[in-house]
Amino acid sequence: MNKAGTDKVTTLDFARRKKAGEPIVMITAYDALFASLADSAGVDSILVGDSLQTVLAGEETTLGATVDQMIYHGRIVQRGTERALVVVDMPFLSYQVSPTDAVRNGGRILKETGAGAVKLEGGAAVAPAVEALVTAGVPVMGHLGYTPQSVHRMGAGRVRDRGQGAFEKLIRELKALENAGVFAIVLALMPAVIARRLTEAASVPTIGIGSGPRCDGQVLMLHEMLGLGGHAPLHVKRYAELGDEVLAAVASYAEEVRQGKFPGPEHVQKV
Ligand code: KIV
Repeated sequence: MNKAGTDKVTTLDFARRKKAGEPIVMITAYDALFASLADSAGVDSILVGDSLQTVLAGEETTLGATVDQMIYHGRIVQRGTERALVVVDMPFLSYQVSPTDAVRNGGRILKETGAGAVKLEGGAAVAPAVEALVTAGVPVMGHLGYTPQSVHRMGAGRVRDRGQGAFEKLIRELKALENAGVFAIVLALMPAVIARRLTEAASVPTIGIGSGPRCDGQVLMLHEMLGLGGHAPLHVKRYAELGDEVLAAVASYAEEVRQGKFPGPEHVQKV
């Protein structure tokens, strides 16, 4: 039991959810405030994505994220979370060089953030790193389809893995990850029919993003679904338009200060 008196979500719950056919709800967060709001809203899992590099830092790609940065954001997200399983992205070059490196970096992330798992991108090529992490006691979530850390090889985000041979290639990658011990796999930006077939063939839960409704769960980027930031891709449903609200609120504040309307008498301390 946690402080809120509810059971903490674990990687084992992910497996149980797949078996029971209960959808898994995941969302990104990068700080304690938004993590706490998402957790209170009842999501099952919070992903500290390396997308923070584009969403928060205004970079073009996720490639510049560092282990120290992910640890800082992982720690503050974990601090704001009572129930959801926190998963922290392993950044570019923190697991690709060698399984030893992967264990050192993934171990640090788990140890220094208090999160429950890490996520890394790729299939068979990263299976040795996944196996080493899992053996060392670090739960790993896989990530197939559009993998932003390979942006210079794959191009920018769009639905891929279409056509003949796409399913066969992806199922080989998925089975390599399963055999290496992942507890779940993100399926990113792939045709819905392929994601459905992969989900049916997978023994671990799949979490879709831009991959249709027939995955075992869904993940969205919080800022995109809240309407914060610019244009959102097709797969994103805007559940709010907070960007417009922030703009209007700050513009009103600026105008009222310039017109001498703020602070008004009700905002002034009486002696
Ligand atoms: O970094 C991220 O936010 C992600 C999601 C898009 C799945 O990997």
